[in-house]
Amino acid sequence: MIVLGIESSCDETAAALVENDNIILSSVIASQTDIHNKYGGVVPEIASRMHIEAIVPVIKETLFKAKLSIKKIDGVAATRGPGLIGALLIGFSFAKAFAYARNLKFVGVNHLEGHIYSSFLSENIPAFPFISLVASGGHTNIYYVDSYDNFELMGQTRDDAVGEAFDKVSKMMGLGYPGGIVIEEMAKKGDHKKIHFPRTYLDKESFDFSFSGIKSAVLRFITEHSENLDALKYDIAAGFQASVLDVLKTKLINACLQRKCTSIAITGGVAANQTFYQQLVKDTQKLGIKIFAPKKELCGDNAAMIAARGYRLLLNNNYSKFDHDVFSRNKIDPIGLK
Ligand code: KG4
Ligand code: ZN
Repeated sequence: MIVLGIESSCDETAAALVENDNIILSSVIASQTDIHNKYGGVVPEIASRMHIEAIVPVIKETLFKAKLSIKKIDGVAATRGPGLIGALLIGFSFAKAFAYARNLKFVGVNHLEGHIYSSFLSENIPAFPFISLVASGGHTNIYYVDSYDNFELMGQTRDDAVGEAFDKVSKMMGLGYPGGIVIEEMAKKGDHKKIHFPRTYLDKESFDFSFSGIKSAVLRFITEHSENLDALKYDIAAGFQASVLDVLKTKLINACLQRKCTSIAITGGVAANQTFYQQLVKDTQKLGIKIFAPKKELCGDNAAMIAARGYRLLLNNNYSKFDHDVFSRNKIDPIGLK
């Protein structure tokens, strides 16, 4: 089965053609980050307008790259939420019209389930059951995954998402959006032991996160050392990143041990952070835990993960109706299928 995936939940217009579980025939991502950069974050109205401009060229390029006739497509899967309502509507409405006009199977996909599925878009995939982290600009969720369709939410952020914390710290230091990659690069030049920022673990047993405290601590430090910022910026980045990664690693390893899993799969934009991946591999070596991270281009928002999740839903005859609509907030049962 060949599925056309479409993703437009935030600031990437993406389309991909995926055959069965994990054969990516083509994947195209049109990013808007250059436009949002000057505002220091995503402007929802601008994002929607950019999606309208990009959607048709992105679909055309996806077909062209796969050297595939439109007639070969068996089904269409589009991100239904969570995300920015106006942005979601563009990809989702396009997908519905595309499927309806061609009499194709259609399914709406939960964006977070899509991220979890990015772990399957590889030759080397985690065995069930495993612990999955979705760490992006909007979410920091830990799941216990014991089948292709069962994702038990073990914990989530109570305030800012981890990617959002990276973005906000970057903005505070005048380094632009998105901040994750910039902070990671700066941290490499700094000493993470020089400035200690707090680690927020909440209750010992909890798998929830809170990143607003560390963000405020960085802001306080920057305000108090404003005249010396240039000299300190690398150590600030390193100290901040170390604090955030310590919390992520600790909770992931605890979740993995508690649920007797042998694999942790990290996904979402923050999973592209090589320092995170390398430290996690190192910290889990003696515990016999294997770490999985998607290829860099599959960590951030993409449509291949949406097509892969869509394939599994369509395979099990889970279709969406054409009067289904998008949603902005995280919902456990997004498409009313379960
Ligand atoms: O998954 P994603 O592309 O979009 C959402 O669904 O939000 O994640 C984007 C987030 C941004 O907050 C960005 O700063 C963060 O992922 N990010 C990183 C890195 N690359 C992207 N965070 C830390 N280190 C990175 N290398
Ligand atoms: Zn995402």
